[in-house]
Formats: sequence, structure tokens, C-alpha cells
Amino acid sequence: MASPQRKILVTSALPYANGPIHLGHMLEYIQTDIWVRFQKLRGHHCTYVCADDAHGTPIMLKAQQLGMTPEEMIAQVSEEHQADFAEFQVGFDNYHSTHSDENRELATLIYTRLNDAGHIKTSTISQLFDPEKQMFLPDRFVKGTCPKCDSDDQNGDNCDNCGATYSPTDLKNPKSVVSGATPVLKDSEHYFFDLPAFKEMLEAWTRSGSLQEEMANKLNEWFEQGLQQWDISRDKPYFGFEIPGTNGDKFFYVWLDAPIGYMGSFKNLCGRRDDLNFDDYFAADSDAELYHFIGKDIIYFHSLFWPAMLDGAGFRKPTNVFAHGYVTVNGAKMSKSRGTFIKARTYLDHLNPEYLRYYYAAKLNNRIDDLDLNLEDFAQRVNSDVVGKLVNIASRTAGFIAKRFDGKLADAIDAPELLKEFQDADTTIAQYYEDREFGRAMREIMALADKANGYIADAAPWQLVKQDGMEQKAHEVCSMGIHLFRLLMIYLKPVLPVMAAAVEEFLASELTWEGIHTTLTGHGINQFKPLIQRIEMDKVNAMVDASKENLVDAQAEPEATADTGANDELAKDPISDTCSFDDFMKVDLRVARIAKAEHVEKAKKLLKLTLDLGGETKQVFAGIKSAYAPEELEGRLTVMVANLAPREMKFGVSEGMVLAAGPGKDELYILSPDSGAKPGMRIK
Ligand code: MSP
Ligand code: ZN
Repeated sequence: MASPQRKILVTSALPYANGPIHLGHMLEYIQTDIWVRFQKLRGHHCTYVCADDAHGTPIMLKAQQLGMTPEEMIAQVSEEHQADFAEFQVGFDNYHSTHSDENRELATLIYTRLNDAGHIKTSTISQLFDPEKQMFLPDRFVKGTCPKCDSDDQNGDNCDNCGATYSPTDLKNPKSVVSGATPVLKDSEHYFFDLPAFKEMLEAWTRSGSLQEEMANKLNEWFEQGLQQWDISRDKPYFGFEIPGTNGDKFFYVWLDAPIGYMGSFKNLCGRRDDLNFDDYFAADSDAELYHFIGKDIIYFHSLFWPAMLDGAGFRKPTNVFAHGYVTVNGAKMSKSRGTFIKARTYLDHLNPEYLRYYYAAKLNNRIDDLDLNLEDFAQRVNSDVVGKLVNIASRTAGFIAKRFDGKLADAIDAPELLKEFQDADTTIAQYYEDREFGRAMREIMALADKANGYIADAAPWQLVKQDGMEQKAHEVCSMGIHLFRLLMIYLKPVLPVMAAAVEEFLASELTWEGIHTTLTGHGINQFKPLIQRIEMDKVNAMVDASKENLVDAQAEPEATADTGANDELAKDPISDTCSFDDFMKVDLRVARIAKAEHVEKAKKLLKLTLDLGGETKQVFAGIKSAYAPEELEGRLTVMVANLAPREMKFGVSEGMVLAAGPGKDELYILSPDSGAKPGMRIK
């Protein structure tokens, strides 16, 4: 380990400040944290920074919905995010926000340098504008009838029904998701970053480094398609940073200042740490290494825009960008109705975070493949590896050391060759960690654990202690077990930091990488306490139950889609939304009798329902046409949200919503109360 000390700066993507952290996100933060802990364990100077990504239209609107200022909301979310990360042992050196002074200064500086160098262009574009809200609408905030297949209630950029993609201005009958108003086309001047000017630089960057193969291929595809001007401005109202010289009219698009947030967070940390200097890490000629860990959905931003912005503004480029795939749960996309959209907090309420750290480590490689969190496999794997193999080594031997040998390890090594094999594995294991082949590292370590267990089983110290004259042998065998266990725990320290700390306490000795080539012969150790419990499937199931959301919105109400966290035009994966108990109590759920159900002329999805609430009647347009014929419904009892604000729809006013479960289309099930319930009864 005579390698010189490296200076390394590492980031994970900045999570959006409008939703909770879930187990999909956790893959990235755990992956990065393991790599960082490994670098630190090896004695490198490694710094890990992150921040909340606090800007953009969805954050602005969500705060409005909650009746808060965006600043209040992002402060609250930041606390929640940081509490989740801390409990999962994600050891950031700094966690900041993109809505910070450092970031404002850096974003302004980078923009100004790009502008001075002629890399910013302006041009007028025409976009849908909400006349009521007085704001331009990102694609996801417009809904309407598909221009290809005439299906109603489709998103602004693609149709769920026929799969067509289009521009929101092509929609028939467009409606603003924010206000329900009909948007109008309006011109506005936008600022563009001249990405095509960086084509050669980016091609060279792609070839020079050791980019993941899939990423290099993706980049080549984009080069072939031709790079486009990138729109970096948004009109007010917008929660973000003002573009200099625009009188408060124009703001940086959230994705302009988001990656600059990496620098902002680092700069903030430099202010508190004598060993860090901003320019050392970001000057064009910096000899420090810079790595960004990201998900596959945001490669474009990190491998095209970001290096180009840095280069154009006279800063260094990333040494590498490491993308991972998406987490699926039980083989499918995380789903709220199946209870597999699991928030970090819900997991923490039920299970030990180190289980997940181990499982992700065991399944991670350095490619962009998706990773399945199969919950049965998760429990089995952790129980068999961590409890059955690893901890077993210590729990079979530690008791004898305490009871019979005065808590002291033997002076001699019983199996020097086995010890050497464990020590010599350090190079291979280190290389696997370095290459982010954590799964291989875990397999290597568990193969050694099998050997340790085999050695103990063969030597059978529990029999030796009963035989005359075998005392010393028993002592040496048990001590050997502890030596091997210690080496395995050094190797696993980046993955299982909490267990490693408990083992340090037990061994009365720090687990260090240099310590691999030493042993604790003759050393006094402490009493062995259980290190980790088996995973019980009951607890896993309870976590899934606690993640289930029953109120499936069958109607695809505009509000519901606005809330899926589509953070901007380029957004991708839905982000979950929490509902406080108080919020939930505001919902007035009632038993309703479907007095009348009728077809609505021209509507592809909707039925018009007249609902009897025991005296009061309400009219609701429900998107259940493909699942029910009107005559099946008449006379049935169901459950409705009775205090939903009335909404003007294409075919009339809808005064509520009925509850149904299922993925939608023809697989949809209306909820009904047990017999005895009467129309108008309140659901509590
Ligand atoms: N705010 C942007 C990133 C800006 S970085 C300058 C963003 N935020 S996010 O909250 O949507 O995602 C944060 C990270 O979590 C991203 O790298 C994303 O790929 C990752 N993941 C989000 N859902 C995920 C899974 N289901 N599985 C694995 N990673 C996932 O994007
Ligand atoms: Zn369509």
C-alpha cells in the first residue's frame, strides 16, 4: 500500500427537494458512500459532497400547494433527507443546497464566463402560457387530447394510449395542469448554451478517459445525432437564480445550477476546512480527481452539458462519471399500490440499514444494469452471508476466549497459511472496490468466510475444550477464528460501518487497512455481543404494508400528475409524495350510491356519474369507462372524495372523485363498502 496519497472529490447526484428519499435513490448514495469509505480506509484524501437540488417549477408549485414559501419547504425537506442519509450511514463531508450563496456566485460566474466567451445565444421561442397563473408551462404541466389517437387527458409530451410523442402545442384542447385554464401561445426570449461548439472537446474527453462502455456508446450516438443548443433560461415566476442583466425576468433553468451545486457544496466546505482549497480541486490544471456518481437517467446532463460548461468557463472537467442502473423491487418498477415504492424512512422504521448496504453491495457492479431488490432474496442473502457466515465465525469462538482463556488471544498462530491467504486477498479485494465491482468483492470475502467456517468446523474447538491436554490447541483455534474474522471485517468496513465499529469495540482495536498484515496475537479482547439480528420476513412484510397506498387515483386527475414530481421538461421517474396525517384528515371520504351512470359523448375514458350522498347529489366524471359499463354501476355503493374542489372539465364540472384501485385502463376496481353502509356516511 505504498501508493501515493490521492486527492479525490466525489459527489452523488443532488436529490430534488420536493420529495422523500426512497430505496431507489439509496442505491446511489450507498454505492458512492462505500467507494468513499474504501478510499478513506486506504489512506487517500477523499472528500464526499452532496446537496439538495432546490430549484425549479415543481418545487415552486409544491410549496404553493403546501402554503409555504419555497425556502421553508426546502429547509424542511433538507432536514428529512439528511436524517435519512445519516441513518443509512452515508458519510457526506458536506451536505448543502443549490439555493445557497456559494452556488449563486458560482452559477453567475460560470454563466458570465460562458457569455463573455460567446457561448450564450438568445432566440425567441413560442410556448404555452397559463393566462390565469401568468406562467409558462413546462410540458408536464399541460394535458389534453392526443393529436394522433384523440384519447383524452394525455400528457403534454407523450400519449399513454398510443405512445405518440409530440410537443405540447400539438395537443388538442390543451389545459393547464396548474389552473385548468386553456393555455395560450406566447413568445419569449430564451438563452441558449452553445453545446455544439464543444463537440470536439467532448469527443476528445470521451476518448481520453475510461468512461463506462455504455456511456461512451451513448455519447457517440448523441454526437452522431448532432448536438443541440441547450435552453438554459426560464421566465418568471420561477424559483431559482436570476440571470444577470435580465431585471428579474429570467432565471437559470434548474439543470444549469444543479451540477454547479457540486462546486457550491465543496466551496462551502472549503470555508470550514483548512486541508481543502477550492482552486486545488477546480482549477483547469488541477491534479485532484473528480468523480460524479449518477443514475442512468441523467447521463446527458453529466457527460455533455456539465463538462462543456466547466470547460467553457475555464474549470477542470470531471475525471469520470459513474452511472448506475435503476432499482426495481421484486422484478418490477417500484409501485405505490404494491407497496414497493419504499421510502428510506419506512425502511428505517422496520429494518437495519446495514442489511440494505450489504445487499446492494452484493449486487452492484460497475455497469449501468438495473438492480433488482427482490425482498425474499434480500432476507435470504443477508441472513446467509452476514449472519450465517460472517458473524458465525466470531460467535462460535469468542465465548471460549472469554470464558476459558481470560479474554486473551493466543500467542501463536494455528494456521499460518490460511492467515496468509486471507491477508493476500487484500490486493484483489481492493481492486474490486476501486473498480466499483462490489459484488465481486463481496463474493471474494464470503468465499473466505466459508473457509474460516470450514477451518473451525474441522478443528471443532467445542470438542477440544473437553479433551485433556487440548486446552492450548483450543485456545489457538478460537484465536485463529478471531484473527480471520477481524480480517474479513476490515474488508467489509466500507460496507458495514456500524458493525465494524462494534467489532472494533469487541476487539479493542481499530480496523485499518494497514492492520491487514499484523495480527492481534496475545491481545486482550472484550466480551462478544450479538452484532446483527437475522432478517425476519415479518418485518419486511410490515414494511411493504406500510408502503402501500390504497387511494389509487383512477381518474388520472390533473392534480395527481402534477404531483408525481416531474421536476421539469426533462424529468423522468415519478417521485413520491408524502401526505401528513393532518393533510389526510382534510379529505372527506363518503359512502356514495351511484344513482346514475352515463356515457359521455366523445369521451374515451370518462363516465358521468350521479352520486347520491344521502340527500345531497354530486356529479363526477370518472375515468373508468374501459373497465365498467354504466349499467353495471347503477345502484352500487362506492367511496368518493366529497370535498374535492370542483373542476371544470371538457364535458362539464366534476364535483369529486370516486376511488378505484388498479393500474388503469381496463384493469380497475371500484371500491365498495361492506353491506350495511349507507350513502353519506363519512369514512374514518
Ligand atoms: N436533481 C436531479 C439530479 C441533479 S444532479 C446535479 C435528480 N434528482 S432525483 O432526486 O430525481 O434523483 C437523484 C438520483 O437518484 C439520480 O442519480 C437518480 O438517477 C437516482 N435515482 C432515482 N430513482 C432511482 C431508482 N429507482 N433507482 C436507482 N437510482 C435512482 O435527478
Ligand atoms: Zn394517442
